[in-house]
Amino acid sequence: MPFNAPRGTSDILPGDQPLWDHVHRTAERVARQFAYGRIDTPLFETTELFARGVGDETDIVQKEMYSFEDHGGDSITLRPEGTAAVCRAYLEHGMSNLPQPVRLFYNAPMFRYERPQAGRFRQFHQFGIEAIGDPSPQVDVEVIEMGWRFVRELGLSGVTLRINSIGDASDRPRYVKDLKAYYEKHIDSLPKVARDRLERAPLRLLDAKEPECQDLAHDAPKSLDYLSEENARHWEEFLGLLDGLKLVYPDLNYTVDHRLVRGLDYYTRTVFEIEPEDARGQSTLLAGGRYDGLMEKLGGPPTPGIGFAAGLERLILNVQRQEVPVPGPPVLDIVTVHLGEAAQARAAQLAAALRLEGLSVVNAPAGRSMKAQMRYANQASARFALIIGEREIERGVAALKPLDGGEQVEVPLEASAIAAAVSGPASTS
Ligand code: HAM
Repeated sequence: MPFNAPRGTSDILPGDQPLWDHVHRTAERVARQFAYGRIDTPLFETTELFARGVGDETDIVQKEMYSFEDHGGDSITLRPEGTAAVCRAYLEHGMSNLPQPVRLFYNAPMFRYERPQAGRFRQFHQFGIEAIGDPSPQVDVEVIEMGWRFVRELGLSGVTLRINSIGDASDRPRYVKDLKAYYEKHIDSLPKVARDRLERAPLRLLDAKEPECQDLAHDAPKSLDYLSEENARHWEEFLGLLDGLKLVYPDLNYTVDHRLVRGLDYYTRTVFEIEPEDARGQSTLLAGGRYDGLMEKLGGPPTPGIGFAAGLERLILNVQRQEVPVPGPPVLDIVTVHLGEAAQARAAQLAAALRLEGLSVVNAPAGRSMKAQMRYANQASARFALIIGEREIERGVAALKPLDGGEQVEVPLEASAIAAAVSGPASTS
């Protein structure tokens, strides 16, 4: 093949679409139930937005951004995530004047130059939500409820929630100091990549995959022990509300995991992830948390926010693994089968009129035998073949043949009569 889709990207073919429809529809239904309004931001933003928002020292900004200079000399980046862009839009459009919190969702492709593997791509899709302008733990629980509900509504089972609080600027420096001191004591048992991380992003040592790091993380200082009074109160209140939610969702099993720190710098206080219980490799399905300091980093006034994003490819992989039944592809109502030039013209005109009646209709390819056209109709899984010949035109009728083996009937050559006949008792759609 002279050309293939770029590494880490894929085509979503018509046969894959029922799965994607299932995920998109479920996402939109859940979003509307919680009164989130859709927002679409551009595919690209100025590079500086992500450098400041996501953080200069993160893997995303250091190694994974698709950045380029445009013809005007501006540095542009294909968005690697949605939160910074949504916050930019919140500030740009004065959304602080709206009732708070402003609840927004998106369903959009993201771009990260990562090493592709199962569940990890260079172009991938996220369903994300952001609730901006309310610091209350009530919103933390709302957002988690929404994430949980989304995953469960997709039909997935065997998932689990991990939560943590990573404090904020008021208590983080004290925590980071002790965390660094702890790892420095064990520097000899740290692999080289982890030693580099110790300076750049010490919190990331806690969720590092290397076995030596995992052993050390176990006994490392915990952010929960360092929370300021206010952040500790937020955390306790959050836990209380989460336990309240458990009464409604008895299957909502969660664990407090002090190694959950997230890979983007904007997070403060509550962070969480949902993943399969038997998680291996790239498995986090949905992840998020609070970002109460992000708006300020972007030049806005202090504005709290919280949200999550779910990786749609990973969800789809799990929907397939768990063999969740999803609605099939849209049904094709009619294929017109036409014999002769006059019939072909009449069939095309009738197809147009039938589409106005709301039916899905295609004409069998011209210039083929009746047998070949009927084969085409069967292969297209149409519900009916509408057979039109010169003689039928003279008599003002057509033959309507159900392709599920039902009885063929004669119908007037009129769109409304045909539409009534196909939505009669034989109808399955
Ligand atoms: P994130 O953890 O970077 O957070 O990504 C969220 C989810 O997107 C992941 O849990 C995963 O399911 C999916 N994902 C990430 N990278 C890839 C990839 N290379 N291939 C396939 N799926 C991927 C964020 O993006 C934050 N903006 C989430 C957020 C919203 N926090 C607050 N609001």
